Amino acid sequence: AGHEVVVVGSVNADLVVGVDRRPGPGETVLGSDLATHPGGKGANQAVAAARLGGRTAILGRIGDDGHGELLRAALGAARVDLAHLLLTPGPSGVALITVDPGGDNSIIVSPGANAHLTPEDVANARDLIAGAAVVSFQLEVPQPAVLAAARAAADAGARVVLNLSPAAEVPAELLALCDPLVVNEHEAAFLLGERGEPEAMARALLARGPRSVVVTLGADGALTADAAGVTAVPSPRVEAVDTTGAGDAFTAALCLRLARGDGLAAAARHAARVGAAAVRKAGAQTSYPKAGDDLPS
Ligand code: RIB
Ligand code: NA
Repeated sequence: AGHEVVVVGSVNADLVVGVDRRPGPGETVLGSDLATHPGGKGANQAVAAARLGGRTAILGRIGDDGHGELLRAALGAARVDLAHLLLTPGPSGVALITVDPGGDNSIIVSPGANAHLTPEDVANARDLIAGAAVVSFQLEVPQPAVLAAARAAADAGARVVLNLSPAAEVPAELLALCDPLVVNEHEAAFLLGERGEPEAMARALLARGPRSVVVTLGADGALTADAAGVTAVPSPRVEAVDTTGAGDAFTAALCLRLARGDGLAAAARHAARVGAAAVRKAGAQTSYPKAGDDLPS
């Protein structure tokens, strides 16, 4: 059988420092010891889906540096299929992350090998993509590869899920393939050109062409929108330690539930619990629950 979830996306080493507050221009602040964690929105999703028991593969690129070895090992330990984890000479992707006392993060990504994912790589993974129930995308790899893979997925009858992160303009053709498009409020406002009430934004996004939309609202849960209407999905209350990668865990859990036949709102309800679990612990992949773990409710 094919995979339940195939992730086309980034693989980064996360270099994380805790800070009391972020420095302004020309300012220096002292932070905590450096922690190096496996990350990248694509790899995070793949690890999250695999931990939850999903048959999962990744299409992506790592560098031939020490970070690349760490990243491959983390994906392998989670039992992600690595047949299309490709090697690029040079540095792996790196994310420079600061985490503040409230658990909020800010991130600078240096793409490294991720920038070398091409439509040719996608063509070589044709069978992998065609065999997937759901193919999941983010925007830390080049758009020509994303568009080629989304077309291939849709042609083969696989469901396309796109998390528009980091926010960027995308062609209408790509938006139209999304089922759902997954955005937070910031990304929604970017696409729409203005911030609004979450429900109004969800409806306006749906009018842009995707088959369905999920707007994630952090501690306030999420909204799903499709032809059947808008549904509010609550998030369990948890104490935030580190929100890094919680959105990736949410999207991965959503993809896996959709692959297994759940409706959008039911899948999002489960995904919000998985995302909340990830917020309770430091790091991204390091914080993801396993199938059978107690989830917050
Ligand atoms: O979504 C969190 C992720 O964003 C981090 O793991 C970092 O690598 C960046 O890609
Ligand atoms: Na976390």
